[in-house]
Amino acid sequence: MAISMILITGATGRIGSKLVESLLQSGKPVRVLVRNSQKAANLQALGASVCLGDLNRLDHLDVALQGCDRLFSIPPNTINQAEQEIQLYQAAKRTGIQHIVKLSTVKSDPESPCQFFKHHATAEQHLKQSGIKFTILQTNSFMQNFLWFSHEMRTKGTLSLPMRDAKTAPIDIRDVVRVGSAILTEEEHEGKTYNLTGSELLSLAEIAEKLSIVANQKITYIDASSLDFKQTLIQSNVPEWFAEAVTTSWQIASKGKPTLTDVVTQIGGKQPITFDEFAWDYKTIFAQE
Ligand SMILES: NC(=O)c1ccc[n+]([C@@H]2O[C@H](COP(=O)([O-])OP(=O)(O)OC[C@H]3O[C@@H](n4cnc5c(N)ncnc54)[C@H](OP(=O)(O)O)[C@@H]3O)[C@@H](O)[C@H]2O)c1
Repeated sequence: MAISMILITGATGRIGSKLVESLLQSGKPVRVLVRNSQKAANLQALGASVCLGDLNRLDHLDVALQGCDRLFSIPPNTINQAEQEIQLYQAAKRTGIQHIVKLSTVKSDPESPCQFFKHHATAEQHLKQSGIKFTILQTNSFMQNFLWFSHEMRTKGTLSLPMRDAKTAPIDIRDVVRVGSAILTEEEHEGKTYNLTGSELLSLAEIAEKLSIVANQKITYIDASSLDFKQTLIQSNVPEWFAEAVTTSWQIASKGKPTLTDVVTQIGGKQPITFDEFAWDYKTIFAQE
């Protein structure tokens, strides 16, 4: 399929930076909308065409989308995420984008008490009604989220989250990128919503056990109270609304019963990365210095 140019938003983030690399390596034309000039220069050095701009600026969106025929939207978890996404899709409509791939979450729900999940549902609904061809990637939680807790694990030997004994279906970001790259370049995914999981259902106690082996020290899972968890986030200078949304997202996950899917294998062409593989790949971050 001939592609003129793919615009990627969120290109300096965890998924976006790997997606840009993957697409450039396979020879695809990539443009990024980036608000930070140093980060933009890094992506330019890799071969991406760069548009300096902000998702909150309508004029920047039109300029960034001009001459593109594909859009991969990786929305940041902002307080006005749905508004940013809707404006982006409206601009995509104006500028003639033919296919949008939206990164979303499996917990997307218009009635969700979690702001993140509500925003995703609102944006998904708008995208579906936009008349533009779309593919939605509803992913489960990223394995790389555990990197956020590596300091606690290294220094205290604990992993504290309000997850009770619930199972998760964590997915490695590299698998999300593999699926996303394939979808951008194949027509058969238009109009589809995919649920992306890893290959294992794991409780946090099981995850702590796996990380203990890699870290070479005992890591104990602590079923934290939501209040304690939120307070810890606030103490680390996270804004109150964000701490609330993150805490609620774990609370919702703690009540969920995820089902494994084979989307990564079917579309990405390879078995999902296991949690053990992920943990060993990031050993230097989990292990004590
Ligand atoms: N964490 C999970 O387990 C999980 C699971 C499912 C879905 N998701 C979804 O994944 C998405 C986050 O992906 P990620 O972790 O790769 O993102 P991330 O690392 O947080 O990166 C966010 C990106 O958005 C950019 N950005 C933020 N505000 C912007 C603005 N006003 N204008 C232009 N760019 C802006 C950031 O640019 P700067 O570099 O300039 O800050 C960065 O490139 C969210 O939609 C989340 O709901 C997450």
